[in-house]
Amino acid sequence: MFLEEHLVAVPFDVKTLVLAVAGQSKAIAGGFLDHSRLAGTKNIYGEDQLELDKWADQLLIDAFEETGIVRNVASEEQGEIVEIVKARGSWGITIDPLDGVSCVKTNLAVGTIVGMFNEGDVLEKGSMMDAACFVLYGPLTTLVYAYKGKGVHEFALDKKTGRFVLREESITIPQGEIYGSGGLKSEWTDAHAKFISELEKNNYKLRYSGSLTADFNQVLHYGGVFCYPALKNKPEGKLRLLFEANPLSFIAAEANGAGSNGVQSILDVEPKKISDRTPLYLGDKKTIALAEKFLKQ
Ligand code: F6P
Repeated sequence: MFLEEHLVAVPFDVKTLVLAVAGQSKAIAGGFLDHSRLAGTKNIYGEDQLELDKWADQLLIDAFEETGIVRNVASEEQGEIVEIVKARGSWGITIDPLDGVSCVKTNLAVGTIVGMFNEGDVLEKGSMMDAACFVLYGPLTTLVYAYKGKGVHEFALDKKTGRFVLREESITIPQGEIYGSGGLKSEWTDAHAKFISELEKNNYKLRYSGSLTADFNQVLHYGGVFCYPALKNKPEGKLRLLFEANPLSFIAAEANGAGSNGVQSILDVEPKKISDRTPLYLGDKKTIALAEKFLKQ
């Protein structure tokens, strides 16, 4: 089954938005060779941008504008929310156009992450999100989408035809024994370090690529946990609430898993500004409950 056929089960707006991402993801997948030089600029977090970051960002913003139904776009690459004044719809979109860019140099998988709010406000709790999707550019280009209450579905781009074909329908995160944790070990809090040793005692195997979308996709299929914790020198952690944590937590929750900041569901965290960061634990329900048990102490 093709993506556009599968999307008849969700509201027409959501279909339009997911297809806009799918369309641009083909261009992005084809652009790594030409656009992977440094752009000579920094994003709002002070990180070096690749040409690819800025190019992918613009492609996506233009595509959302073209749908006519998107009012606001918050992007990890923009300092402020982009308002589309002529929009006739009210959707608010968050984008991380290219997550894991440091992995481009070493040719590891990287991704695009998108969150969608029907009510237009992007500075909202993740529980207000209506749909989310991500694209993973690996040996295959895959697109995973979730619409509230309608499951999580994965499609793969057939490069011969340029169409996304169903790869796995109604994904649920199994209970698994894989873990990955970001952050310098010497900066981990005692609670996080104890959680990780508990996982190791229980034969969890370490797998960490440095690209959130790829690491999350692994947990989505195999279970276990991906974490980027609060650090002693950075209590808010590294990852961004709006652009990374919220959409992936929404997808995890729709796949019967969970996303937590260690003490509460990510989806219940009230954002204060678009650049908010958060500690992040994503994975199967049992492992996330174990994380919270250690982190709440
Ligand atoms: O937020 C960008 C990102 O590259 C994520 O994709 C990834 O999980 C994380 O940063 C990797 O950080 P570190 O290099 O500290 O492990």
